[in-house]
Amino acid sequence: MPSILQRAKAALTARDNGALNRERATVDLDAKLLQQVRPYSLASAKKLGNLKRLAASTTERSIEGDFVECGTYKGGSAAVLGSALTPGRHLWLYDSFEGMPEVKEIDGADAGEWVGRLRASDDDVREILTLVGLSPSQYTIRKGWFDHTFLQQLPERVAVLHCDADWHASVTVVLETFYPRVAEGGVVVLDDFGWWEGCREAFYDFCARHGEKPLLERVDCDQAYWIKGKTNNRTGQD
Ligand SMILES: C[S@@+](CC[C@H](N)C(=O)[O-])C[C@H]1O[C@@H](n2cnc3c(N)ncnc32)[C@H](O)[C@@H]1O
Repeated sequence: MPSILQRAKAALTARDNGALNRERATVDLDAKLLQQVRPYSLASAKKLGNLKRLAASTTERSIEGDFVECGTYKGGSAAVLGSALTPGRHLWLYDSFEGMPEVKEIDGADAGEWVGRLRASDDDVREILTLVGLSPSQYTIRKGWFDHTFLQQLPERVAVLHCDADWHASVTVVLETFYPRVAEGGVVVLDDFGWWEGCREAFYDFCARHGEKPLLERVDCDQAYWIKGKTNNRTGQD
């Protein structure tokens, strides 16, 4: 039977390991990849590095499924996901490429300024995916509003869902459509949790509707992520 002192020491060690592990969440993206994707992404190096780490972790943990990104813009974060693709996985990319859609009050006071901004082209996306070494057979670009493109054939199983769609309505339809397809142990990344009020509200509304209580982790000022089905950090791993 361990003494109180031994148990306290073990608890402290576990806590320190957890802290070390959270440090690891900020691993740098490979310098060449970062240089390549920088002109094609709005996301910080820290968030892109974490996205890559999480995508790679699904392979290390043998989680089945494809990688999905909703909100692709010029394709920078998509290319980071693509750089972690392994044989058998496919990359699905969804965007209207027509700029940010209309907002509602729930999206917050500053959101309206962004309506119509962030126009891009699916050619930008193809360009950066080619640059990082992907072939067209490895990815599908679904161009159009989510309400329409989500009605087309969807990936059966999802290992990584990267939701970078900012507004309440967009984040809601992404979670409602893809969350049931995320495998146990798969990762959901919300890019805008700490930035746009509508994204945060959409997350909490979704959780309330479905009785979900995700173990939410944070990186940088805005990214949030969780691993489906994970209930604690006692193993010090994610
Ligand atoms: C912040 S940008 C994505 C940034 C990108 N992931 C990067 O690496 O920089 C958000 C994108 O979401 C797209 N978007 C938002 N709501 C959408 C909707 N309902 N349907 C289609 N695209 C949408 C916009 O067109 C925009 O390109």
